Amino acid sequence: MSYQNILTNTEDNILTITINREDKMNALNIQLLQEIKDAVTKAQNDNTVRGIIITGAGTKAFAAGADIAEFSNFSVAEGTEMSRAGHEVFFAIERSSKPVIAAVNGFALGGGCELTLACHLRYASENAKFGQPEINLGVPPGYGGTQRLVQIVGKGRALEILLTTNTVDAQKALHIGLVNEVFSSEELISESRKRLSKIISKSPNAIKQVINCVNDHFTSQHNGFETEIKEFGEAFGTSDFKEGTSAFLEKRKANFGL
Ligand code: COA
Repeated sequence: MSYQNILTNTEDNILTITINREDKMNALNIQLLQEIKDAVTKAQNDNTVRGIIITGAGTKAFAAGADIAEFSNFSVAEGTEMSRAGHEVFFAIERSSKPVIAAVNGFALGGGCELTLACHLRYASENAKFGQPEINLGVPPGYGGTQRLVQIVGKGRALEILLTTNTVDAQKALHIGLVNEVFSSEELISESRKRLSKIISKSPNAIKQVINCVNDHFTSQHNGFETEIKEFGEAFGTSDFKEGTSAFLEKRKANFGL
């Protein structure tokens, strides 16, 4: 797939996906979301990629939501399909075996906020603003916001954000656990890269297993404790386990192939 709406760049084993519709506040049209899904899916089997950063072009917006101009005339069937297709994209991110960081460089509204929620970690610039303004448009969030926001900040705070539609600035987002850390705009990408570089120096197999176990806490089909037992046992059969434990006993740094 050739990309019209995103930029991709792989450097030092980190794939950066930049949402590239700056003149439209990086609004997420349907094609753009498919491009993100394609890039994330391809990264799963790309040995040169060990982690992913998603950010927005420019300094004003990460993504100001789904593209209102695109969906304003959708029928019930089209609206349902839009949401279903979006959910697939966001599940692809959430279930990525390689850690995905949202580097939130401005407005993250509606689908933009939901995109950050599907990522494993969220780092924000000081000018970041989060919000779920969908009910102003006569719809609830359709890309998982009603579920993942509750998981991340709890029911009371999620309902406050969803029902008031008030934006949450970076400091408040940090305070309520919506973001992991806040940086200046200038440092957002470099600090995000630094943190992701540290993560990806660790066992790729164990990283994948942690993500899988944590995700299973939130799925009704799986018991997360059972997933953990299975993943823990399976780790004993991996070369990462041999390397990690040997390195500890030999008093050296483990080398997981970076
Ligand atoms: N969908 C489609 N286009 C969007 C958009 C969206 N979600 N968000 C912004 N844009 C477009 C604007 O229509 C405008 O396009 P134009 O220049 O062709 O008129 C352009 O991006 C710039 O936005 P503008 O509103 O002029 O910038 P601003 O700095 O005054 O305001 C926001 C920024 C983010 C506060 C404002 O754009 C906004 O409220 N966006 C919609 C947020 C929303 O409701 N998201 C949920 C969607 S489900």
